[in-house]
Amino acid sequence: MKTIVITGSTRGIGYGLAEAFLVRGCNVVVSGRTHEAVDQAVTTLAIQHTSERVLGKSCDVSDFNQVQALWDAAKDFFGQVDIWVNNAGLSSTLMDFWTLETERIDSVVGANLLGTMYGSKVAITGMLDQGFGALYNYGGRGQYWTCASWHDALREHQTRWTPSDRGFG
Ligand SMILES: NC(=O)c1ccc[n+]([C@@H]2O[C@H](COP(=O)([O-])OP(=O)(O)OC[C@H]3O[C@@H](n4cnc5c(N)ncnc54)[C@H](OP(=O)(O)O)[C@@H]3O)[C@@H](O)[C@H]2O)c1
Repeated sequence: MKTIVITGSTRGIGYGLAEAFLVRGCNVVVSGRTHEAVDQAVTTLAIQHTSERVLGKSCDVSDFNQVQALWDAAKDFFGQVDIWVNNAGLSSTLMDFWTLETERIDSVVGANLLGTMYGSKVAITGMLDQGFGALYNYGGRGQYWTCASWHDALREHQTRWTPSDRGFG
């Protein structure tokens, strides 16, 4: 039985992924920034699927220690992590970049750029240690409209270094 960690899975695409993996018999770790949102998602998923295969853990991906704690909780509870999905992200309403509040820029960079980098670092380190695993990164409007080409360059770099490409996937 595979174990899947999905960052930002309290709603949206991440929540849909959690449901789809549960339907296919996988263990799933659901996460988001707040305990309340995580508990709500886990409660709903546990009603529709078996609660033994769903673990909830709050994690703000812009904080490295919280991302590491997410990996550790998944590993402790399920014994291994087969797939890590860096899904957490923020998109802004389409608007001129220079009109964005600096707080909004900080939160987008924190979730989309730092979150992807921290998640990749933690997942690749853990997967190299356990000897297997696959990492998936999401890209989207938040990145393209606010972080532009330097973020794409980083994603390209990360993609080349996924454990899958090194024979672990
Ligand atoms: N929807 C699209 O059309 C589209 C297209 C291309 C790419 N994407 C990408 O797909 C991913 C998901 O998009 P979506 O439309 O499903 O977004 P969404 O509905 O807004 O959901 C975003 C998820 O990310 C979580 N999140 C936000 N900031 C976070 C942070 N700092 N730390 C941890 N979790 C955080 C949110 O949870 P909490 O609020 O509970 O923290 C929520 O679960 C994003 O990376 C987005 O860029 C989306």
